[in-house]
Amino acid sequence: MVTQTYSSMCKVFIVVLFVLFGQALSKPRPSYIKACKVNSPDFDECALQNGRGALPYIVKGDRKYNIPKLNPLKLPVVNVDAGKDLNIKLTNIAAKGLEKVELDRVKIDTVKREVYLDMHMPRVELIGQYDINGKILILPIQGKGPCNITGVEPKFQYHFKYVLDKVNDEEYMKLTDDDNLDFQLKRAYFNLENLFDGNKQLGDNMNQFLNENWQEVVKEIGGAISQTIRAVARAISSGYFKKVPYRELLIFD
Ligand SMILES: *[C@@H]1O[C@H](CO)[C@@H](O)[C@H](O)[C@H]1NC(C)=O
Repeated sequence: MVTQTYSSMCKVFIVVLFVLFGQALSKPRPSYIKACKVNSPDFDECALQNGRGALPYIVKGDRKYNIPKLNPLKLPVVNVDAGKDLNIKLTNIAAKGLEKVELDRVKIDTVKREVYLDMHMPRVELIGQYDINGKILILPIQGKGPCNITGVEPKFQYHFKYVLDKVNDEEYMKLTDDDNLDFQLKRAYFNLENLFDGNKQLGDNMNQFLNENWQEVVKEIGGAISQTIRAVARAISSGYFKKVPYRELLIFD
């Protein structure tokens, strides 16, 4: 009698352990994502609809799936590599407007293992602190203080390749290092307060110059902007793919 109780308790214990560990290692996809049939003619359309359905949940953040909150997205440090003549460091940045992101295209090539995501949003505001030193479009620039860098109607094309990583007999998508992000803006606005140690005249002139030449400025620091957004896109995608097995995302029959 005693042994029997003990043995069934033991079974329960094993089942509980199994459930706990099973969950820790892999999660089914969240209910807001549906799997798409890879060989169906409307695979890309299904993936697009899925992505559109999932976005409103994703932008709210989902800690279970390692997805940070995007409303706003907090970036403690953004090191901008703008070439050897210019150092820019942005700190305590709140990126606002990402939650209005809309998906325009999803293309998944399961043979080449490549994914293309096209997105746009009405605007992105980067609000925080800047520290700048060097030359921008041949003009010397120096200062630190509060900043507002705003991009109007940004469009993004994100492209990544993936490999399948086996963990405990389950395959997961893993982004390779050569993901890439291109973007275009309809307009950009810069407001760097307290430039040139607070010299208002010089600061106002520089801000005016940056705004009049926004296209060239964006070109010069564009690599840095796309690296930042690429890092965000990468963190979201890989965080998610680490939790949800490949077979939960796509159906191969
Ligand atoms: C940032 O700048 C944009 C463009 O000038 C402006 O519309 C927006 O209100 C500013 N945001 C903040 C928080 O100051």
